[in-house]
Amino acid sequence: MDITMVILEEHNQLRTRFAALEQMRGADPEVLEGFWRQLHNLLDVHAEAEEKFFYPDLLQVGTGANDADSAEEETTDAIEDHNDIRDAAAAVGQHKVGSDEWFAAVQKANVENSKHMAEEERQALTDFRRNASLQDRHELAVRFLGYRYGNAGGIDAQDKDAEQYIAKHTA
Ligand SMILES: [Fe+2]
Ligand SMILES: [Fe+2]
Repeated sequence: MDITMVILEEHNQLRTRFAALEQMRGADPEVLEGFWRQLHNLLDVHAEAEEKFFYPDLLQVGTGANDADSAEEETTDAIEDHNDIRDAAAAVGQHKVGSDEWFAAVQKANVENSKHMAEEERQALTDFRRNASLQDRHELAVRFLGYRYGNAGGIDAQDKDAEQYIAKHTA
């Protein structure tokens, strides 16, 4: 197993689910609500699992990749993006399920998440493949998936301060 491939594969699941949801205008609100609840859980657990089992190790071995100069830059961007994605996903719940406003909020979450995933793939995942051992990538993949599927029903996701996060994991 490889943490960089596990994350990439989960990104594709997220893309597929957003793409499908955006084709579901007019569907039964109960179906939309159930679909969105699962997608929202996946967004929250995915980000939390990365913050537990990927970024701390990236901070140890990363050197920056493509348009990022350092692992600290990659991590700061990720923590801040994860906060924006959580906030955008939480905002969906403020609208009537299936309304134009609800779909617009879903779309905003898709935009935040898509922009983040592209950057994460190009910078952090590339950096980690270049600098982490296959053994470490394997062990982190198993831990990531254990957390991911051990919390498939969702978590109480909280925003984080990027500076504090980096200080904690580089001390
Ligand atoms: Fe991420
Ligand atoms: Fe991700």
